[in-house]
Amino acid sequence: MLATDMPQTHSRHDSDGLLTSALREQAADQQYLTLKGLAKRFGKTRVFSDIDAEIARGEFITLLGPSGCGKSTLLRAIAGLNDVDSGEIIVDGHDITRLPPQRRGIGMVFQHYALFPNMRVADNVAFGLRMKKVRPEERERRVTEVLRLVELTDQAQRYPHQLSGGQRQRVALARALVVEPQILLLDEPLSALDARIRRHLRDQIRDIQKSLGLTTLFVTHDQEEALLLSDRIFLMHQGSILQQGNAASLYTRPVDATAAGFMGHYNLIGSELARPLLGYLCDSPQVALRPEALYLQPDEMTRPLLPGHLEAGLDFPLQSLPANVGPALPGVILRHQLLGNIVRYEVDCQGLRLNVDVLNRSARQLLPDHLRVQVHADLDEVQALGTHDTGDRSRVANG
Ligand SMILES: Nc1ncnc2c1ncn2[C@@H]1O[C@H](COP(=O)(O)OP(=O)(O)O)[C@@H](O)[C@H]1O
Ligand SMILES: [Mg+2]
Repeated sequence: MLATDMPQTHSRHDSDGLLTSALREQAADQQYLTLKGLAKRFGKTRVFSDIDAEIARGEFITLLGPSGCGKSTLLRAIAGLNDVDSGEIIVDGHDITRLPPQRRGIGMVFQHYALFPNMRVADNVAFGLRMKKVRPEERERRVTEVLRLVELTDQAQRYPHQLSGGQRQRVALARALVVEPQILLLDEPLSALDARIRRHLRDQIRDIQKSLGLTTLFVTHDQEEALLLSDRIFLMHQGSILQQGNAASLYTRPVDATAAGFMGHYNLIGSELARPLLGYLCDSPQVALRPEALYLQPDEMTRPLLPGHLEAGLDFPLQSLPANVGPALPGVILRHQLLGNIVRYEVDCQGLRLNVDVLNRSARQLLPDHLRVQVHADLDEVQALGTHDTGDRSRVANG
């Protein structure tokens, strides 16, 4: 049944069966870019090692990690701008590890635009095509097309100094796209821009990438950017890929304390200390709990003292508790931070300091500092840490 749905052009694969060849093509698409055991040192400094990854055709991957963890060097190695000491880079079945940059079919955008200041936008974009000796009519057609894609048609005759930062970065993007690369690499392209432009360009990059189906590696140290943009995130730490996965799995299932420390604002708690909160002793040395997986209730005794309660007759609880909830742990609010739509309370529970996030629904529900409260944990959200095999929640919950 599946075979009849296949286009006629596949009939040349009849010898191994349509399904087999379709699966093979699919498998090849899943391994479009392969990094095998890549390692790089600068003198005695190990920049990265044991970098292994499979990237699918059309995938948007973000390399996320703190400054100095090796993101740029890895990206530059893929582009051929610096060599590697060992390992292989395979694109669509071809080993490109030793190819010069211009023969890799890779486009790159840097944090700082690196445009030619004395060339107009259109000439900056056309530069790569000139180097490749593309004919003038073809060159013009492609430059026009790509400038339309990045919404810079009106700026084609301007010079870089006449453009805003966001526009310059779009020129850089156009210049990378115009040569129709197989892979696009972006090294913190948004870091130098202010917040509003940054959001706009971020969305624009993702839209363009999707419309072209372009395999893309995007580097950032910004967790929010990574979570919003990526099909998958590679979390890097000290020259290694610590964890690979989609946004949800990185955010909710960090593999260890380092990953937890980088994603979200996890409470990291020693298992013995966490015991009264969980109602059981976790068998791993440490547990991680996101602030939004903790629930705050004013203590029964202090409820009548709350201004919101008196004025509006508000009926606490603030939040309804989840199904699988731990015991109530008494504590005192030390301080709070207003983070826009979230209020983050710092609560002292008999020596255990916890960050608890509550949706900021109304100023009347804001709990004052020094208030006695009870904290509950959502037991389904407890992450056991300490081994690299912490994705299994049932083990945690039963621990
Ligand atoms: N050309 C170089 N020579 C020597 N050390 C370098 C060079 N480039 C980068 N490094 C070092 O490699 C490490 C990783 O740098 P980099 O890849 O730029 O990290 P990131 O992009 O994650 O901030 C840093 O410790 C940096 O100092
Ligand atoms: Mg960098």
